[in-house]
Amino acid sequence: MMDKMKLPAVPPSTPSLILAIETSCDETSVAVVEDGRIIRSNIISSQIETHKKFGGVVPEVASRQHVESITWIIEEAVEKAGIRLQDVDAVAVTQGPGLVGSLLVGLVAGKALAFSLGLPLIAVHHIAGHIYANRFVQELEYPSLALVVSGGHTELVVLEGPGQFRIIGRTRDDAVGEAYDKVARALGLPYPGGPHLDRLALAADGAVQLPRAWLEPDSYDFSFSGLKSAVLAALNTARMKGLDLAADHVARGFQDSVIDVVTEKAMRAAKQFGAKQLLLAGGVAANKGLRESLTERCRQSRLPLVVPPLELCTDNAAMIAAAAHLKWERGEFAPMTLKAEAVLSLEEWSVKS
Ligand SMILES: Nc1ncnc2c1ncn2[C@@H]1O[C@H](COP(=O)(O)OP(=O)(O)OP(=O)(O)O)[C@@H](O)[C@H]1O
Ligand SMILES: [Mg+2]
Repeated sequence: MMDKMKLPAVPPSTPSLILAIETSCDETSVAVVEDGRIIRSNIISSQIETHKKFGGVVPEVASRQHVESITWIIEEAVEKAGIRLQDVDAVAVTQGPGLVGSLLVGLVAGKALAFSLGLPLIAVHHIAGHIYANRFVQELEYPSLALVVSGGHTELVVLEGPGQFRIIGRTRDDAVGEAYDKVARALGLPYPGGPHLDRLALAADGAVQLPRAWLEPDSYDFSFSGLKSAVLAALNTARMKGLDLAADHVARGFQDSVIDVVTEKAMRAAKQFGAKQLLLAGGVAANKGLRESLTERCRQSRLPLVVPPLELCTDNAAMIAAAAHLKWERGEFAPMTLKAEAVLSLEEWSVKS
């Protein structure tokens, strides 16, 4: 179908308008972005209030809510962008990784739009989206190093060139956002716990001492499950002694441990790989403590730090359009047989060099 349709033979004219759809987890989002850098609209409908009751995302509920929202969000994104659907040049959609039932909703909507409008379809890797959210802040320089800290990922990624990703370190167990959410839950804080822990940690006047998981001296990998267990053990020990650990001291101890390790590893990797910029990416990039620590270390090392604005740190479709633009420029389009992938390799998604 799409393979046989008439597609632009040469990388398309500028300015380009990409309509992007993101439904990989619990945000339904549609954006219209011009030339990969100018956000014309970015509508985000969060399901957090629904999932809060369950203390985490319920996949079946998430996909149903995506189905209910996707049509009106597409309409709103087009209207807010001040365009007509016919003005769009390509449709981009998150292919993975994520919850497969959620991804499917966006994928089917994207295929239907692309097919009915006779437009190319672009498949996007969700983490490439998080990284390229930084392109809304400033033009990226290569090689650069991305520190990806999100609900499902914790990775150090070297970008050799535009859209060329090499993962040099990843978590061996929990992702950092997941650890934040689990520790917050143990403290009785609402889901998602990251922002609550961040707020408590910043206001705390003391900290519970917790371990740092450095792993092997030359490793860029991460591990957070031991830290999470140390928090639970500290809470249990205090309870058995009839004591109550102050939640803000626990939050501060946990956040200090996370920040020490990710900051140190990111700075070491940036130096080793000659990064011209450090790019912060993913939902945990909203963390004030982490932003402050990286800002200070990058200032000392004279390394430019690029951080997305808060609303572009968590899931949104504008970042998906920014990553899609890399494929648009090279005419790398997806077939109509495209499948949603719960697990998808970032390195394999890299643009063809
Ligand atoms: N200020 C903050 N401090 C720490 N964590 C935060 C903060 N704000 C958000 N988070 C965390 O960010 C995570 C959500 O980020 P994101 O939306 O990128 O995750 P995801 O899309 O579920 O995972 P992935 O992108 O890996 O698929 C949650 O775990 C949340 O607790
Ligand atoms: Mg995400």
